Amino acid sequence: MITLALSKGRIFEETLPLLAAAGIEVTEDPEKSRKLILPTSRPDVRVVLVRASDVPTYVQYGGADLGVTGLDVLLEHGSEGLYQPLDLRIAQCRLSVAVRADYDYAHAVRQGARLAVATKYLGLAREFFARKGVHVDLIKLYGSMELAPLTGLADAIVDLVSTGNTLRANHLVEVERIMDISARLVVNQAALKLKREPIRRIVDAFASALPQN
Ligand code: ADP
Ligand code: PRP
Ligand code: MG
Repeated sequence: MITLALSKGRIFEETLPLLAAAGIEVTEDPEKSRKLILPTSRPDVRVVLVRASDVPTYVQYGGADLGVTGLDVLLEHGSEGLYQPLDLRIAQCRLSVAVRADYDYAHAVRQGARLAVATKYLGLAREFFARKGVHVDLIKLYGSMELAPLTGLADAIVDLVSTGNTLRANHLVEVERIMDISARLVVNQAALKLKREPIRRIVDAFASALPQN
């Protein structure tokens, strides 16, 4: 049995075409079912649904053989015990710093001000500002980061940006692009040895079906 960990929403939706290329069809809709283990058209393959931030943990400890996870989640979690054979080029976005449109970020940085930064990416944010030599007080949030500068909770946020619609809708502007993000296939290193052939076939099928851009 091969177990693939996915999160509901964009990762699940955007992985479906890659699974199809591997001859794997998920036979139940996760938005309609409460089941956390979904069967597929292949009796030897199942999908487990976990929170996006839990995918690396499941694969690392062998709760799943493979998983699809954002580079943001992977870097924040650490990739010990994980083999990363493919950039899937799905769920594309970027990790950025954003502030209120009326906040002079460049000036604050030049002045050596201490910035309050709200984010769910404490590790990535700490590393980015340390490399820049900017002192920060990090505030851990679990979502709706865009609200923090609007309520006075923080001067800036570190969050994902794709179309920029969420920033615009909240009168925020992007002031730094930290890195480009896309989803990665991760494989448990022990599973790769024990189930080499079936895993290799799935990796190869995904590789041949990747989006072009
Ligand atoms: P969560 O519930 O953790 O927010 P998501 O399904 O929104 O889960 O995000 C899963 C992954 O998809 C993220 O780790 C990131 O890599 C990517 N992602 C998040 N937001 C966007 C977006 N707006 N556009 C494209 N990719 C995104
Ligand atoms: C993500 C991210 C931003 C938004 C950026 O939120 O946390 O808020 O997308 O995308 P945009 O630039 O295209 O507007 P998501 O849609 O995943 O909502 P949630 O994580 O809060 O459920
Ligand atoms: Mg999200």
